[in-house]
Amino acid sequence: MNTAAMEATALELVAPGKGILAADESGPTIEQRFKGVGIASTGDTRRAYREMLFTTPGLWAFISGVILYDETIRQKSTDGASMIEVLGRQGLIPGIKVDRGAKAMAGFPGEKITEGLDGLRERLAEYAQLGARFTKWRAVLTPGPQRPTRTNLQANAHALARFAALSQEAGLVPVVEPEVLMDGDHSIAQHGAATETMLQLVFRELAEQGVRLEAVLLKVNMILPGTTCPEQASVTDVVQATERCLWHTVPPAVPGIVFLSGGQTDVRSTEHLDALNRLEHKPWELSFSFGRALQAPALRAWADGSVAAGQAALLHRARCNSAARFGQYTAGM
Ligand code: 13P
Repeated sequence: MNTAAMEATALELVAPGKGILAADESGPTIEQRFKGVGIASTGDTRRAYREMLFTTPGLWAFISGVILYDETIRQKSTDGASMIEVLGRQGLIPGIKVDRGAKAMAGFPGEKITEGLDGLRERLAEYAQLGARFTKWRAVLTPGPQRPTRTNLQANAHALARFAALSQEAGLVPVVEPEVLMDGDHSIAQHGAATETMLQLVFRELAEQGVRLEAVLLKVNMILPGTTCPEQASVTDVVQATERCLWHTVPPAVPGIVFLSGGQTDVRSTEHLDALNRLEHKPWELSFSFGRALQAPALRAWADGSVAAGQAALLHRARCNSAARFGQYTAGM
């Protein structure tokens, strides 16, 4: 484990004005996204789509790193280069999703536990050898009347810390992702309470398992009301609830918090990120690791038949989120 190198990578990933492109959709997820725009999901279409994203001219100015899926890290681009080489040409740091998905948790109806610890040490060694420099593991927490249960949160927090410790052992920066979903009718207060408890447990487990916080990034949801909650929230409500939750739980040794978009619209995600960055006191870099909020317009434009239009759409969203990192996003953009 080269601690100094991992700490440098973590800082590079949250460099001012830059964020992470999450392009690590699993097979079923990318199939669903493609279906939405009338594209069949095959090895070839997935490669073509992701190559379009990664070769966007000028992307390096706004994006620091890209999270890949196992299939993608092994694919070759049109000119025969590996996808890692394609990213390297733009100075983008390659990362890899290493969990094996959130599965139904036995005895806890409606709740999920993320699998993938078995054999993880060997898989991490291979990813490091292929050129990955950071990793991601996502826990999925489902708010509901009696949920998430403490047992479910604890099981997921424990697995996240196991993943983080193994990643650092392999010299890879772990992006620790507990996501409390925004689906459902829960209030913003319930979302905040569930996220706060989860983050308390996550940081306790990280400490127990000896994970070096300076070489970790936290990927987390913003605090939002459920999508079907009758009482929706203003940007100010979201910023206050999110700030409060993070202040209560995330140690300042953590260099950066990279938000997921979680199903918010692309513009809304950017507005929230922008408002968060206008806060006066922030012990961590507040950045993004968006999937849908960066890709949705690019996917539509690409599906309409043009690589250039897809790249222009991605670059536009990346530029808006880069401005939001400085609290300088305007609706006119
Ligand atoms: P979204 O921004 O679409 O939520 O995706 C981020 C991600 O990587 C979820 O694991």
